[in-house]
Amino acid sequence: MDGFATTTPTTPSRSTTEHPAAAYFRALRSREFSRLARARQAYLDYTGSGLYGSSQLEWHRDWLSERILGNPHSENPASLATTAEVDRVTERVFRFFNADPAEYDLVFTANASAAIKLVGEAFPFRDDSRFVLATDNHNSIGGIREYARRSGAEIRFLPLTPDLRLDDPMAHVGEAGAGPSLLAFPAQSNFSGVKHPLDLVAAGRERGFQVFLDTAAYVPTNPLDLGAVGPDFACVSFYKMFGYPTGLGALLARREALAILERPWYAGGTVDFVSIQNDVHQLRNAGGAFEDGTPDFLGIAGVEPGLDLLEEVGMPRLRDWVAFLTELLLEGLQGLRRVDGKPGVAIYGPGTTDSRGATVAFNLLDGLGRPIPYETVEAAAGEAGVSIRGGCFCNPGAAEVAFDMPPRETLDCLERLGEDFTLPRFRDCLGGKVPVGAVRASLGIASSPRDIERLVEVLEALLED
Ligand SMILES: Cc1ncc(COP(=O)(O)O)c(C=O)c1O
Repeated sequence: MDGFATTTPTTPSRSTTEHPAAAYFRALRSREFSRLARARQAYLDYTGSGLYGSSQLEWHRDWLSERILGNPHSENPASLATTAEVDRVTERVFRFFNADPAEYDLVFTANASAAIKLVGEAFPFRDDSRFVLATDNHNSIGGIREYARRSGAEIRFLPLTPDLRLDDPMAHVGEAGAGPSLLAFPAQSNFSGVKHPLDLVAAGRERGFQVFLDTAAYVPTNPLDLGAVGPDFACVSFYKMFGYPTGLGALLARREALAILERPWYAGGTVDFVSIQNDVHQLRNAGGAFEDGTPDFLGIAGVEPGLDLLEEVGMPRLRDWVAFLTELLLEGLQGLRRVDGKPGVAIYGPGTTDSRGATVAFNLLDGLGRPIPYETVEAAAGEAGVSIRGGCFCNPGAAEVAFDMPPRETLDCLERLGEDFTLPRFRDCLGGKVPVGAVRASLGIASSPRDIERLVEVLEALLED
């Protein structure tokens, strides 16, 4: 079973032979991801984490087996070997994202959130600054508002349309404040899969903002050309791109943008010098001032075979393939009906693949058109060996719009529940009137049409109950 065989002529209806890349991805899956077939699992949680190919593990194991690698930042051979590898991978990452090292710097971090925090905590917000951000940012960008608020900056959210696109963003962004101002939005929403317009980066910069483009959910299946898009800051988590290693991400930042940040502390690795007796320190230049402590230098080496795999596949081919699969998924979901012919699914976000990526959030609907709790769907899928995600995916802004949550009742319930908060209790508190979570299926490099069929079969069975 390679995951591509269509066992039943049910949904999704279109033949996989329609797509010219189907044979390529079938071969790739049996070469790199054969463990999926052995485990009989359909993995549909790529926005949670990518899957690693077996060649990555083999390369990394062989690489580690042959080398003596020490902590970088010294002149001994083991240290120099590590420094050389970290430099080599840094260059590879620059090339992968077409970032000119004269313009951009790279800081390895623990994950995308850590990259975001480096900027948030050091951004020189003032009371005449503006922080403008998309309503559907991941919490890790949303949390920057706490730093902005502390400085008295104006905080403004860009509204969403009912299908979760940015609503006339150029009009809502406005102009930067007199103080340093930041615009932040995701290149692709981790809730709805919507791809926001990348020309908002240039527009924001023209209006005097520094722009943080959250690329964490975008880069696993889309080519990103930083040279062309030109954000001041971008972040990635490598496990989202190719599954392994975990605990490693990066901040890619324009050198001029890094220069205006004000680091709130210093740490090992970030300083040229410190004098305790004289109470002074001097931070290293540019990215060097942001790399707190020893980076995950063995993990960094493991980035290389991940990039090799993505480059072998080719990001445009991967983007097109997952777009084709997303079409199958949307068709499969939209074809689901209750016995009385009423729609069986509410999809949150666009119903077509126009400017949307391979992440689809939805709820199944009961006979009265009410959402079936996402936990029920997630559990049924799990029993069938299908991994999907339930909840609101660290994206409360998108969830509030998608579920049309009444603001006053929402706040009352949040305050009343306090430390007892759980999503099911929150749902009860809201009287079961609105969903408080959804299920999310997301596709990636090893996804197959059969994975989608397996999900649709689970959903069909639930609707028949
Ligand atoms: C768009 C987006 N930004 C940031 C993050 C945070 O990534 P991490 O948890 O790896 O730090 C995620 C994770 O899902 C994401 O989807």
